[in-house]
Amino acid sequence: MQVAYTRLSYVLAGLVVALALIGVAANFVKDRERRQAVAIALTAGDPTRAPEIFRRYGCGGCHLIPGVPGADGKVGGPLTDLRQRVYIGGVVNNTPENLVQWIVFPQRFSANSAMPATGISEAEARDLAAYLYGQ
Ligand code: HEC
Repeated sequence: MQVAYTRLSYVLAGLVVALALIGVAANFVKDRERRQAVAIALTAGDPTRAPEIFRRYGCGGCHLIPGVPGADGKVGGPLTDLRQRVYIGGVVNNTPENLVQWIVFPQRFSANSAMPATGISEAEARDLAAYLYGQ
């Protein structure tokens, strides 16, 4: 009888831990969805198109980009936590409009920037900004 109770208490403890983990995971997913909804509202871009656009313009050759396989360049800094940055390129306030304009033509803000204008359109840059702010 004693053994059965001990076993039962293990099962219950396991259940409590499992439920707690499910709760944490659900919150994680909800936070992510909220971040992505905010990013879409801020930029009017479509983040689902971003991975293909990052690839087409070679962004990943120079930057580490979270969630984009093979995007592990070290020429520029990693494009992580963009929504928490104060400045873009260290020279201009981090706003959705400035991020889009930076991606299209960095020299507009920083004449000596080593980042090239890639020929990306403003609409495509919006999709990338939506993705980066949603991370
Ligand atoms: C040839 C290498 C190269 C390519 C290609 C490139 N970048 Fe950059 N990027 C850089 C460098 C170097 C910097 C830092 C420049 C500076 O601060 O003036 C930078 C800075 C940035 C920043 C500002 C980051 C920060 O920490 O403030 C963003 C955002 C960015 N790049 C996005 C992109 C996107 C999106 C693409 C593709 C359309 C791209 N880059 C393509 C080299 C590159």
